[in-house]
Amino acid sequence: MKDFNEYPTIALDDDASCVVMIDQTLLPGRLELLRLSELSDIWEAIKLLRVRGAPAIGVTAGFAAYLAAKSQTTEDIFAFEKQFDADIDFLASSRPTAVNLFWALGRMKAAERDASKAGKNVAEIKQILLAEANAICSEDIRICKSIGEHALSLLRPGQGLLTHCNAGRLATVEYGTATAAMYLGHERGYDFDVYCDETRPLLQGARLTAFELAAAGMHPTVLCDNMSASLMKTGRIHAVFTGCDRVAANGDSANKIGTSLLALAAKRYGVPFYICAPSSTLDMQTPNGEGIVIEQRAPEEVTEMWYSERMAPEGIGVYNPAFDVTDADLITAIITEDGAIAPGDLKARYPVNVL
Ligand code: MRU
Repeated sequence: MKDFNEYPTIALDDDASCVVMIDQTLLPGRLELLRLSELSDIWEAIKLLRVRGAPAIGVTAGFAAYLAAKSQTTEDIFAFEKQFDADIDFLASSRPTAVNLFWALGRMKAAERDASKAGKNVAEIKQILLAEANAICSEDIRICKSIGEHALSLLRPGQGLLTHCNAGRLATVEYGTATAAMYLGHERGYDFDVYCDETRPLLQGARLTAFELAAAGMHPTVLCDNMSASLMKTGRIHAVFTGCDRVAANGDSANKIGTSLLALAAKRYGVPFYICAPSSTLDMQTPNGEGIVIEQRAPEEVTEMWYSERMAPEGIGVYNPAFDVTDADLITAIITEDGAIAPGDLKARYPVNVL
């Protein structure tokens, strides 16, 4: 098998002709790279979770918007812009919950409009879009590292940490959000005791987080989702870190289904519960969690996937939301690249959406 650590989660290839991504649906058994240039293929890769995790989806969308622009042959700015807008709308329809998708597409559209207003021609606009997509990608690394520094400052060596789903480097470009303190702590000899919820039904915790942390030289422990309360009760967990797909203005935070149960258990057992997210995950236009669209996914993810034969009765009803909303009052702090912020202080710190 190729060495996982040699491959970025997501990148543009050297001549900027396609996006190269690790196919996350095949991990941990197979490490395969996808090289995609067609918009419909990139859309499908996001939809099918070949690339997933809010920041990685945003970075992919930035590259996809550039590739869509690049593929256009017209030199007429009006025709170019019309098609560009349609391509942006198409990409925006791939998944509904992670706001980073809409944030990245909005940023690409704004870059295009600014360039067009400044009188740039189509060829020049394509170069500006390439620079913008690359900036979204490289900023993600800096931002995740900064989230990690803030999170690490709250921890002591040897502590037990619990995480859910995958908010690791596979969900970003490097470091991850919820895992950033784990990576930095590992580099600095903190020797954390890391636990990963397996994360039903798609098992991002067991397949992806445990895999990537082990590949980095850590020794994570996997547990079923229904075991986390009993683990917290033992006193071995000193902090819970999860990522996030969208934080509403009041601090309500949508993340992988099961996150809110963890937060409830953490509150019961006095364990600090931290949401780690870049400021691009803050949706200050949505007042609270009720306004966040929650993706519903196929019943087969619950009844058939991972089993050698179907394990639930044929025709049975299935409830399969991909995300839940953790109420702001269960969250100790939201850790962005700017620091650890109490949910109630979010509006003062970020009066409007960050672009
Ligand atoms: O459905 P997924 O795998 O895209 O869900 C991902 C999560 O819920 C992550 O925790 C979230 O996107 C934050 S990633 C830094």
